[in-house]
Amino acid sequence: MTAPLIVANWKMNGSEALLRDVAEALVDRQGSVDVVLALPAIHMSLARALLQDGIRWASQDVHWLESGAYTGELSAEMIAQMGASHSIVGHSERREYFAESDEIVAKKANACFRAGLIPIVCVGESREARQAERTEAVVCEQLEVLLAGLPQGAERLIIAYEPIWAIGTGAEATPEMAQAVHAVLRDTAQKRGFRLDKVLYGGSVKEDNVAALMSMPDIDGVLVGGASLSAQGFSALCANAAATHN
Ligand code: PGA
Repeated sequence: MTAPLIVANWKMNGSEALLRDVAEALVDRQGSVDVVLALPAIHMSLARALLQDGIRWASQDVHWLESGAYTGELSAEMIAQMGASHSIVGHSERREYFAESDEIVAKKANACFRAGLIPIVCVGESREARQAERTEAVVCEQLEVLLAGLPQGAERLIIAYEPIWAIGTGAEATPEMAQAVHAVLRDTAQKRGFRLDKVLYGGSVKEDNVAALMSMPDIDGVLVGGASLSAQGFSALCANAAATHN
């Protein structure tokens, strides 16, 4: 059985002190969970100095080009040089506030592969789409455009299903809802000749709901925002995920 993958998305939060606390709190969790901390880039050199084997770090975004006149941006190559193993790509906050289209998301995922980073690509539907019973149509469209932009058979692709209505709201998808979408995503990828390495669920994951989510057969891990900003809480969440992994 592989350990569940727990990705912490700090967003534009956190500090060196939090990173030190998280590193310390996770010492006891080693081996039972696979942890990736998606940090603001400013904290990556400390991550490199501090984090033990089994805890990796990621960026929350990359630019799709290797270098150039793009003020304020970081390339996937730069992120890889800072020792990161993964990058989140296409988070709904990037799609909404920075107008990232599915095509741009595909270019960014490609840049990750080029630089040797594992992309964690987010897909998810709005509340309106869920109410209109368009969830599957929306997430499959996002996935199809992504896959069309990737080299056939690209491996190590991670998808995070994050319903927009569940992010930061405290209203997580039920395990059954998430399981149904994960199964559809896996199936869709398979029909296009891709194998999804892992499918994560994100959106109001907490210490007390992670176990039920992780008991579902197609939930390989979770992407955690707000609940990753407390070292003790995040450590407890990791322990609960490990205890009930399917
Ligand atoms: P949340 O955020 O856990 O605070 O809902 C998840 C995310 O945006 O990745």
